[in-house]
Amino acid sequence: MNRPIAITDDIYWVGVNDRETKLFEGIWPLPEGVSYNAYIINDDKTALIDTVKNCYLTQLLQKIQNLLGDGRKLDYLIINHMEPDHSGAIEVIARVFPDIRIIGNQKTIEFLEGYYGITRNVSVVKDGDILDLGRHKLCFYLTPMVHWPETMMTYDTKDKLLFSGDAFGGFGALNGGLFDDEIDLNFYEDEILRYYANIVGKYSPMVQRAFTKLAGLEIKIIAATHGAVWRKNPKCIIDYYDRWSRYEARKGVMLAYASMYGNTKRMAEAVARGLVEGGIEEVRMHNVSESHVSFMIKDAWKFRGIILGSCTYDLKLFPLMKNLTDLLEHKLLKNRHLGIFGSYGWSGGALTALQEFAANVKWDLVKPQVEALRAPSAKVLEQCRELGKNMAAGLNA
Ligand code: FEO
Repeated sequence: MNRPIAITDDIYWVGVNDRETKLFEGIWPLPEGVSYNAYIINDDKTALIDTVKNCYLTQLLQKIQNLLGDGRKLDYLIINHMEPDHSGAIEVIARVFPDIRIIGNQKTIEFLEGYYGITRNVSVVKDGDILDLGRHKLCFYLTPMVHWPETMMTYDTKDKLLFSGDAFGGFGALNGGLFDDEIDLNFYEDEILRYYANIVGKYSPMVQRAFTKLAGLEIKIIAATHGAVWRKNPKCIIDYYDRWSRYEARKGVMLAYASMYGNTKRMAEAVARGLVEGGIEEVRMHNVSESHVSFMIKDAWKFRGIILGSCTYDLKLFPLMKNLTDLLEHKLLKNRHLGIFGSYGWSGGALTALQEFAANVKWDLVKPQVEALRAPSAKVLEQCRELGKNMAAGLNA
């Protein structure tokens, strides 16, 4: 994907693939990479929509040169989002094209100055403002907190194409295919959800607000800043985001456990058996010492049932379970059934901490709450099985 790719007669993808970064935002693993999508509208006036992470600047400049040749310049840079995975090339773009006019909203301008010291040739747009490029008229929709304060979307009225910023994006570099009809969605779906749950999910009410603002807009193509361009079935990615931002989930369970010497793991195995005996087919088990928390948050977003079990460590939750519960609380996930169990060797702590978590998230708490002193007895394991069965009953209701 070394050359610009035509999306419509005048609109081109000039993005890049990142297969090098290990941790997105310094936290989230990228086992399948990620793309940073930028676009050019080549009309009477030319416009670049967003840029790329700064280390991929050369690739972006080569694609711009390839498309425009020596004779044309960029007239506009439209900034839908200022997070540096998209704004990292702005400073150099502004130097290479000194007359370029930068378009953003009032918040964008603050970020632009704060990150890059840029204040000249900047125009502020408001909700519903139109920029005329010739054949293409661009309309701006401010969508704050999807997922930064300055985020906005740009709608091309000619091709009915929505440049949506991070919204409708996903993890996963583009493996040769740019469009939704060129990619294996079975491969990408979980990575799109992992992106949504970890990056955007906390701001789900703002995603719903954006849907309300965009209602009535005819959208034929969605071009986000990450992942595929949706031209065959944009409704697919719209439905994903709509469902996830309303916290809708599948009948299934994410079961995460922390175990140092296998006793809490035995409890988790008994819970899982109870789930399956109760008729749950989709059970995803995570050992918190093995699974990165982003995959557990993804599965928490995917399934209606969440069961957490932890050993006690220094009279408290096992640290990696604490990290999971902190992030689940932080992401403000709603409408889930919760089961909890814990173990301890000489003084409790884990189950009490999980009870505090349950009180904070206010999910439907399933009985029994099971606790083992040292190795789980046959009676305790039976209680674990009962917890699994009760969770299943709740999800089947
Ligand atoms: Fe892809 Fe919020 O940056």
